[in-house]
Amino acid sequence: MTEQRFVHAQWSSRLAFILAASGSAIGLGNIWKFPYLAGDNGGGAFVLVYLLSVVAIGIPIMIAETLLGRRGRQSPINTMRTLAEEAKASSFWSYVGWLGVIAGFMILSYYSVIAGWAMAYFFKINSALFEHIDAAGSTKLFEAFKSSPEFLGIWHTLFLSLTMFVVRKGVSGGLERLTRLMMPALLVMLVMLDFYAMGSGGFSQGMAFLFSPDFSKLTGEGVLVALGQAFFSLGLGMGSIMVYGSYLPSDVSIAKSSLFVIAADTLVALLAGIAIFPLVFANGLSPSMGPGLIFETLPIAFGQMQGGWFIGMLFFALIFFAAITSAVALIEPAVAFLSENKGMDREKACLVSGAGCWLLGLGTVFSFNIWADLKWMDKTIYEWVDTLTAEIMLPVGGVLIAIFAGWVMSKADSEAELKLQDPRHYQWWLILVRYVAPICVLLVFLDALGVI
Ligand code: TRP
Repeated sequence: MTEQRFVHAQWSSRLAFILAASGSAIGLGNIWKFPYLAGDNGGGAFVLVYLLSVVAIGIPIMIAETLLGRRGRQSPINTMRTLAEEAKASSFWSYVGWLGVIAGFMILSYYSVIAGWAMAYFFKINSALFEHIDAAGSTKLFEAFKSSPEFLGIWHTLFLSLTMFVVRKGVSGGLERLTRLMMPALLVMLVMLDFYAMGSGGFSQGMAFLFSPDFSKLTGEGVLVALGQAFFSLGLGMGSIMVYGSYLPSDVSIAKSSLFVIAADTLVALLAGIAIFPLVFANGLSPSMGPGLIFETLPIAFGQMQGGWFIGMLFFALIFFAAITSAVALIEPAVAFLSENKGMDREKACLVSGAGCWLLGLGTVFSFNIWADLKWMDKTIYEWVDTLTAEIMLPVGGVLIAIFAGWVMSKADSEAELKLQDPRHYQWWLILVRYVAPICVLLVFLDALGVI
């Protein structure tokens, strides 16, 4: 797809947009991050806050972000600038685009490291070491893997190079076709693992952990982590969806497509949680193992299943594909900016942003080994990059997008762009985007700071 300033090429159909947007939404956030954050933050209450955030904040902001993208039809920074001019508002709004470019870049730096783990496990899982492996063995193998900066570094380099190669070729094409196959396959695979988990002996304990809320286990920061995870998992607040929205033909319903993507994303996260926690309890593991959770629990299941090495390979391959379609979305705003505003060709823009991500990613690589004790306020470099982006930049970016779409843009414009058949639906969206989303995010921030 060619990049041009005002006459952008468009998606072939509504399906193409849905596929690209769900490709961006469904990724490591659903399969790796959601279970580990739920485990770290006490389970049920965290999951409930996450689900409420998706509905009350995720839905209106996803619609708002797509709408701004379609109206602006450029990269996020230029879209925000153009729309602000159109609404006779301050040029300050282009900083929303900036915030997104930087957040996406920072997220990709560690995303690539974790996706590298999935690639490594794709090759490791069929080794005899994993046959009939128990919890202690699986934990030991993961620890050994994690402690090697060389291994982690090599896989990080490989994943990032592949991502930048795909980005260099533009947003549509092969990846779109791949997503069409990959997503149903991932869904089938997760459902299979869910059935396996049902027979594992830890099912009722796992389900109780995930779905019966115990608010005494949820801290103020935990609430913020759940909110941040809603933004992260849906891929909101940094202009990814804005970029995809900019390719959306004007007769496609933004609301319906957004709802579909949100439903699919949430379903995948829950299915992943349902597969993992029964295994955690059946094998006497702790739910709060941190980022290694799925890499320590799932191999036990694969090691015990008939033909598990093959199923394991398939599963890690699918995670890899899910990750790369998200990675592409994370870096696209930065690449689009460098090529639209800095006069770089796409090739050079990819090289520059890829090199930066790689370098910053080394901070994450070392956070799991040689710099594991290098902490500031009890957080490693990886934890800082994650906290700054998921808990601060995405929610702030998202709220600014909501305020812009709800308050700054004229109602006539947003209504015309959304084209909802039932005028009441537009009113609901307006209330959510104007009041509910910004106020909820503000309350969560105040709660995490201990003010309320
Ligand atoms: N949503 C993706 C995941 O769950 C990651 C991602 C893609 C993302 N684009 C984003 C996260 C934009 C935040 C913002 O893995």
